[in-house]
Amino acid sequence: MPAIILDGKKIAAEIRAEVTVEIQGLRAAGVRPGLAVVLVGSNPASAVYVRQKVKACEEIGIHSETHAPPQAVSNRDLVALINQLNQRDEIDGILVQLPLPSQVDMKQVLITIDPAKDVDGFHPMNVGFLSTQLPGLVPCTPAGILEILKRSRIPIAGQEAVVVGRSQIVGKPTAMLLLNNNATVTVCHSKTRNLASICRRADILVVAVGRAGMITQEYVKPGASVIDVGANQVTDRREFDKFFRGNKKREHSFTKNGSTLMGDVHPRVVEVAGAITPVPGGVGPLTIAMLMVNTVKAANLRRGAGIQELSKV
Ligand code: GUN
Repeated sequence: MPAIILDGKKIAAEIRAEVTVEIQGLRAAGVRPGLAVVLVGSNPASAVYVRQKVKACEEIGIHSETHAPPQAVSNRDLVALINQLNQRDEIDGILVQLPLPSQVDMKQVLITIDPAKDVDGFHPMNVGFLSTQLPGLVPCTPAGILEILKRSRIPIAGQEAVVVGRSQIVGKPTAMLLLNNNATVTVCHSKTRNLASICRRADILVVAVGRAGMITQEYVKPGASVIDVGANQVTDRREFDKFFRGNKKREHSFTKNGSTLMGDVHPRVVEVAGAITPVPGGVGPLTIAMLMVNTVKAANLRRGAGIQELSKV
């Protein structure tokens, strides 16, 4: 039996509807949550992501603004911009879109963001809150992965979870969230030996490596829940044929756009897994929905909301 498809768009819409109600309550009390997005230079993929984030804010009543310093911006000017945003009361969340150009010290930039406004959850203070299970701001994609699992009623406690990829943005915080939810967690990376056999232990397999179709059927235990965080643009016809030959919908979009978006998980894993997130339409929509959640959470956090309210996510 093919896997259940975990519909990220539907789950993200549910979350957005919940956040919209919360924003209406805040606005009735005279508070309009505000998000500042900093997009350095003209990386086309980053520009697309930032547009999606700003549009999502507009749709649900969050004030948003985009700051776009040039590619050659100095470290000092970028830090100065963030300090200005830190000072502004109407800004609750600050997001610096990554990657940053090489002349910029990314770590310095990220620690300059006020931890209370750090809607990406990348500041060491928020990383510490996550690992010590204190309420704070949790990175959006990992928080979204947990929402998919929980809202799809996939058990976590006591399950074997394997996370492939150890990035600060996805792999590490996802592993920490799964651990905080009582999974038995293994983190794999480029130096891991016997990757396929470790992945095959997983009841929950989370993949965030950035290699199109790398996780094939032999990495997956029958019935496992597979979360595919990959977002790879396939532009090469031969590579396309390797994964999607005969798939009419994909053929159509590849011919029209010259590319197709696919995950790190091979399309045929659907025949083995118990549940799986598609790409597109799986984890991606959750990342944006959780940014909205974090912006509202930050607005509450800065206005002294109680710990009980903030520990929901
Ligand atoms: N670039 C890729 N993913 C992310 C993310 O989650 N946050 C930011 N700020 N930049 C990214």
